[in-house]
Amino acid sequence: MIISTIDESRPKAARVGGILITTSCVGALLCTGLVMAQTPSPGGGPRMKAIVYHDFGSPDVLRLEEIDKPVPADNQVLVRVRAASVNPLDWHYMEGTPYIARIEFGLFKPKETRLGVDYAGTVESVGKNVTQFKPGDDVFGGRTGAFAEYVVVREDRAVVLKPANLTFEQAASIPIAGLTALQALRDKGKVQPGQKVLINGASGGVGTFAVQIAKSFGAEVTGVCSTRNVNMVRSIGADHVIDYTKEDFTKSGQRYDLILDNVANHSLLANRGVLNPKGIYVLIGGGGVDNKGLGPLVRPIKALLLSKFVTQEMDPLLAEFNKKDLTILSDLMVARKVTPVIDRRYTLNELPEAIRYLEGGHARGKVVITLEPGKETSPVSFNRATASASTLGPDLVGLALIAIVIGVPIVPIVVALGLNRRFRRRNPGMRSYRWGYSFSILSLIGGITLGLTLESGVSALIACGVIYAVLAWFFAQRRHWAWITLTILSFNPVAWIINFIYLRKRWAEESAAPSVL
Ligand SMILES: NC(=O)c1ccc[n+]([C@@H]2O[C@H](COP(=O)([O-])OP(=O)(O)OC[C@H]3O[C@@H](n4cnc5c(N)ncnc54)[C@H](OP(=O)(O)O)[C@@H]3O)[C@@H](O)[C@H]2O)c1
Repeated sequence: MIISTIDESRPKAARVGGILITTSCVGALLCTGLVMAQTPSPGGGPRMKAIVYHDFGSPDVLRLEEIDKPVPADNQVLVRVRAASVNPLDWHYMEGTPYIARIEFGLFKPKETRLGVDYAGTVESVGKNVTQFKPGDDVFGGRTGAFAEYVVVREDRAVVLKPANLTFEQAASIPIAGLTALQALRDKGKVQPGQKVLINGASGGVGTFAVQIAKSFGAEVTGVCSTRNVNMVRSIGADHVIDYTKEDFTKSGQRYDLILDNVANHSLLANRGVLNPKGIYVLIGGGGVDNKGLGPLVRPIKALLLSKFVTQEMDPLLAEFNKKDLTILSDLMVARKVTPVIDRRYTLNELPEAIRYLEGGHARGKVVITLEPGKETSPVSFNRATASASTLGPDLVGLALIAIVIGVPIVPIVVALGLNRRFRRRNPGMRSYRWGYSFSILSLIGGITLGLTLESGVSALIACGVIYAVLAWFFAQRRHWAWITLTILSFNPVAWIINFIYLRKRWAEESAAPSVL
């Protein structure tokens, strides 16, 4: 799962993160080891250091480069970044995964070469129309390219004053994880005081915020984490902690009003099994670095579909940046109801290490990058031989998508044409069902897809196959009810319309001349 990110130069619809990954040419110079990328300033203006990547791949693609220091426009503020934090979204961008997201990220090379979103820092200068901020203000927020010494941000976007009781590191750790936790609990989860809330992945970036925010809403919170994090999760306010190495929460017999799932390591049906009849399941994340194909997109679709068939709500979340929610989070920090949990600190040139650590999937709270002036002088290690990701992944996903899009409508039609010809050859003078065959095959595909989507297991798939076989047999006997049932089960509105017209016509013909079907 992914979060909308902040690229202020692009329309909102195009600002997709997330979830929602290239082969590059290898220069002789770049093969051999450590390179500090230094490009001359074209205009001789001020320069700054920033993390830049030109190829998708492992953290080795990251380079610390000197680029032009940005100049704020009339409605922008220039922020000297004092700390930034790392999120799974950053490695999704860096790797260009899930591959399907390359439609947005750039097919073979990143469209946006700057990395990072969460930052906290001090306003250095402001554009002439800026009224909310002045030089010297400490702020935090989200902006693409936050792994840099400076960012420019529009004053009306996701930037707010930093509470005085927070360090820059704490403030930088809030935006993505804090907003995700808040919006999952309040907007999707509609959390109420006294409700039982379970947070799967309670010890990570999102989880540590979710536990504390859920408590601030008056919920009774159960956190799920590994043994080494049990005490930490309890210390931030969880009423109950389940150690997933010893106990499976989906088999505990407990029921919850709300489940926030940061891990997605149990089936949707298993989660549903521990939800109250009117409970809500919010899918936040899951699918680690190894899940690069369509996987991260399939579960949200499954959740939405399953929601139509059960009494509980099952909803994926796509968190969004906005000033209002950042302010709410800030207020929670001022009231000391929520305190960011910081796991490790790295410097800007250690970002590849920080990302590698986060990719391991076992961060305890947030991983932050501190930017202390004068410390970012050593080069980022860069090894082109291992840097590039293969293009095979996106190619395969692309081919699979094309095969599905073309195959699902075409295959049934081709098979139907074959069956139609065979029928006419064997039954000269009788009229066949033509499109009926196609829709019947579609119904088989529809049934199997539904079965897989609802995670109904092998037995349900076998049942689906048997039902289909029986219907197909009666259909071959020219029973109209079987035809109608198969058409309905094709889940294809076009099939419903065509068959409605076609059936009426055929019935009229049959009543006029019953012997000619
Ligand atoms: N939908 C959105 O808009 C949105 C926004 C932000 C993030 N996300 C997604 O949400 C997920 C979590 O993000 P994050 O920033 O919290 O990641 P993170 O900081 O890397 O946290 C990962 C956590 O998962 C826990 N974990 C791993 N295996 C587990 C298991 N089997 N059972 C329970 N917990 C387990 C780890 O705890 P242990 O060390 O104890 O195992 C670790 O604390 C990611 O997939 C991210 O992409 C989505």
